[in-house]
Amino acid sequence: MTLFYTKALQDPVLAPYFVLELGDDLEDQEWVYHIELLADFWLAKLLGEKTYGGNFVGAHVNVPYISRESFVRWLALFSSTLDEVYTSDIAKKFKDLGENMSEQFMNEIKI
Ligand code: HEM
Repeated sequence: MTLFYTKALQDPVLAPYFVLELGDDLEDQEWVYHIELLADFWLAKLLGEKTYGGNFVGAHVNVPYISRESFVRWLALFSSTLDEVYTSDIAKKFKDLGENMSEQFMNEIKI
């Protein structure tokens, strides 16, 4: 998670969204909380653990100017980070879930 967000904060398309909501310092409390929340989210999605009960689509409705292009970029960065960290079969599970959820996002927030 930390590697992904380190890259996101350096990415010209994605950085502005995250900086606006959470700032640019990954060691800041807001970021630490966000990264822990996202780790719990992925644990829930991948392993079916009951670690996340939030509304992850709803959380993005208020992210200003979120676009289809930004989701394409998000997926590319997510995918390249997974390839660095996991074996290809585990990386694929995350990628498939990430793609499905991005589709679901774009449909639900109508972009
Ligand atoms: C362009 C793509 C994306 C951007 C710019 C983005 C940005 C953000 C931001 C700024 C927040 C923090 C909202 C806040 O707390 O104020 C957030 C929360 C979150 N994001 Fe994303 N996101 C993107 C795509 C995704 C995708 C594809 C997933 C999942 C597959 C995801 C999962 C989550 C989750 C689980 C949260 C926490 C929601 C909660 O508070 O319970 N995001 N996102």
